[in-house]
Amino acid sequence: MKQNSTCDSNHCMENVPGGCTLVIFGASGDLTSRKLLPSLFSLFQKDLLPENFSIIGCARTPMDDDAFRDKAETAIRESVKSDIPRKILEIFLQNVGYVSGAYDACETYKAISDRLASIESKIPGGKAGRIFYLSTPPLLYGGIADFLGTSGLSEEGEDPARWRRVIIEKPFGHDLASAKELEKQLKKHLQERQIYRIDHYLGKDTVQNILMLRFANAIFEPVWNNKYVDNVQITVAESIGVEHRAGYFDQTGLMRDMFQNHMMEMLSLVAMEPPASFEANCVRDEKAKLLRSIRPFPLDKLGEHIVRGQYSSGRINGGDVLPYSAEEGVKPGSTTETFAAAKLLISNWRWNGVPFYLRAGKRLSRRVSEIAITFKKIPHSIFLPLMPEDLPQNMLILNVQPEEGFALNIQAKKPGPKLCMGNLTMDFFYKDILKGEPPEAYERLLLDCMLGDSTLFIRNDTIEVSWSLLTPVLEAWEKSGDAPETGKLYPYKSGSWGPDEASKLLSGNASWRKP
Ligand code: BG6
Repeated sequence: MKQNSTCDSNHCMENVPGGCTLVIFGASGDLTSRKLLPSLFSLFQKDLLPENFSIIGCARTPMDDDAFRDKAETAIRESVKSDIPRKILEIFLQNVGYVSGAYDACETYKAISDRLASIESKIPGGKAGRIFYLSTPPLLYGGIADFLGTSGLSEEGEDPARWRRVIIEKPFGHDLASAKELEKQLKKHLQERQIYRIDHYLGKDTVQNILMLRFANAIFEPVWNNKYVDNVQITVAESIGVEHRAGYFDQTGLMRDMFQNHMMEMLSLVAMEPPASFEANCVRDEKAKLLRSIRPFPLDKLGEHIVRGQYSSGRINGGDVLPYSAEEGVKPGSTTETFAAAKLLISNWRWNGVPFYLRAGKRLSRRVSEIAITFKKIPHSIFLPLMPEDLPQNMLILNVQPEEGFALNIQAKKPGPKLCMGNLTMDFFYKDILKGEPPEAYERLLLDCMLGDSTLFIRNDTIEVSWSLLTPVLEAWEKSGDAPETGKLYPYKSGSWGPDEASKLLSGNASWRKP
């Protein structure tokens, strides 16, 4: 089909935040090099950073400012594919500094405080915000938040320009009890409005587009319900294995790593009711309400609702790959799941009776994240002898990555004989409009935090609802051993679409998509 996509902007707003400093704890780590610094540099190139903007990296690794700037330069050059003029990088790096120290030592916070005082003294009226980005192992979040509070670093003044915000990365606890404990620690010195819990999936342009598609168009919402929708499939498939992260992943597992956050967030955006407005709490209220409507998994027949798996050896992109059990850092005999698929039912007027199938896994056939909405069969066929069951059901596919866009499958007449019907796909790809890659998710999220917009960040209540749903499953898996009805761990071949048992979750004649 000929592509003819254009996108004229009829309302484009992008604000530049007021002066602020970003303090990154865990600055010698992977996330800072791969995502944070390149995203900040990209915002700088787009003129979206405030005029008075500084970065202070903080970590235990001893390093001076120059060594950290060199590290930052390498990280940015590695991640930005095109050549960067030296001058531009120099301007960006001149406001980057580093403080080394232990996260549980008062001196570290004193040194950060001195640095901030010196930076802010150069800003007219000393009016500047502060973001503390916790990119450390999650066990340290509570302690760092405590030090930020007791040292006065996170204390907000009367002046609204002197805001203090803390960003934390998932995982937000490892079950309901630990999530509540973390929350208690954070709230000792911080207000909810100061806490920005990041799920980078919410920063992806195509995930944000779910809201535009649903609520900025009149044609989708009337069919977005159990009268017209047969089932919804949400897939986040990765072809990579655990890579160098076994130390973290083997204790975490896919359910905590992907389901509790990315999958639940996408599900809530697809299924929630229209919010009163695109204001943070209105959107987050609807997400929480939706998650509360999910029926708890029946623990006595868990195997009929959720299937877990672990990858064995196989072939990916033409090369042999190791089984999970042989990956470096994986404990011998580990029963950590690298795949999970679930059937979820939502008890509300809109979705009663519509199964939502969620599936995520590592070492699957290819890297793809998508949401596929399959519509019901036509109620009656006038095209005899073709019956309704002979015609493929319409499907709307929201492609989150790697080919961002969406596609609608419909039936159409093929040229030629009178009764010759075929499947037609109308698709739209962002790359045709953008002529390039969509921005990195962290750019949007970092900018939103500077602007004080928490719409794309997770509120604590949704975290607790999602843990209430998943914690009993994780506990049942721990206790169940190998019983199929409560959660046997099925092996699957690397390069496949997961264990065959996952297809038993699907009702009627539905099958998992192989995108
Ligand atoms: C992270 C998980 O949150 O998301 C990783 O911890 C996973 O295990 C990653 O690989 C996937 O993100 P993306 O943006 O590549 O789909």
